[in-house]
Amino acid sequence: MATKIWNVLELLDWTTEYFEKHNIPNPRLDAEVLLGHLLEKSRLQLYLHFDMPVYQEHLSIFRELIKRRIALTPISYLINRKEFMSLDFYVDERVLIPRPETEFIVETILNTNPEKPQRVLEIGTGSGVIATALAVNEPEWEIIATDICQDALQVAEKNRDAHECTERVSLLHGDLFEPIQELDTSHFNWIVSNPPYVMSRENNDLSPDVRDHEPHIALFAGEDGLSIIRRLISEAPSYLNPGGKLIFEIGDTQGTPVQELINEQIVYEDSKIIKDYAGKDRVVVASIA
Ligand SMILES: C[S@@+](CC[C@H](N)C(=O)[O-])C[C@H]1O[C@@H](n2cnc3c(N)ncnc32)[C@H](O)[C@@H]1O
Repeated sequence: MATKIWNVLELLDWTTEYFEKHNIPNPRLDAEVLLGHLLEKSRLQLYLHFDMPVYQEHLSIFRELIKRRIALTPISYLINRKEFMSLDFYVDERVLIPRPETEFIVETILNTNPEKPQRVLEIGTGSGVIATALAVNEPEWEIIATDICQDALQVAEKNRDAHECTERVSLLHGDLFEPIQELDTSHFNWIVSNPPYVMSRENNDLSPDVRDHEPHIALFAGEDGLSIIRRLISEAPSYLNPGGKLIFEIGDTQGTPVQELINEQIVYEDSKIIKDYAGKDRVVVASIA
């Protein structure tokens, strides 16, 4: 018996129904994104090529992608890409998938429009999106980015190089400020971080696609979710230039405890919490004199 030749429309319809049966949240969209990725076509191009046959070599890969999506692997890991600050980044399961709220940190820094080139340290760079987006937007700035996870740094390196920022973003491995000790100049205008800030007991509240697929070292920060933030707040002033600023992302319930932690450190002369577009506490900026 002749093997059936599938076309784009039939495959999209079949996959949408299959995803629906397995309660995948956006069944049609996911089907289109996955097939488009596989065939290297935009979603619009898929619509313009509904009759195009899809052959066995692609079908077997598509079947594998469908299986992984049913296992709730996030789409970004399946297509190995995520947009951040209108730039394209490679992602895989070694790094957290960059979130749109994190763009807020980058925008806040860029909007200060400093006259002189800035020296910036990013702690916990993951896929490298913050460091790379800053370097792309401000080619004169010197940026150093660290991570405790060597695997994540390989992804950051790939993204940094793809955006031609190799000369301007240095990547260092180690725990928080430890790698900075080796540098000749260990002071910065900005220290920036999107640290892990989920409480360990929130593990079961996370959606399975996050909990079961994203790196736990990028998510969890002890009982109260503040174990890394606490260290950032107390250690950062030793690495800031006069007038320098620490800026970092927080969870939407962490504004008050984080403000208290900042108030305990008399070296900070000013601090504020900025809300995101959803009106939630999201970014903290604390400056020293
Ligand atoms: C929430 S992710 C942020 C990744 C990326 N900056 C972003 O915004 O998408 C936190 C990152 O911090 C790193 N990290 C966790 N603990 C660390 C530590 N003690 N020192 C340095 N980096 C750490 C993790 O490996 C992870 O890449």
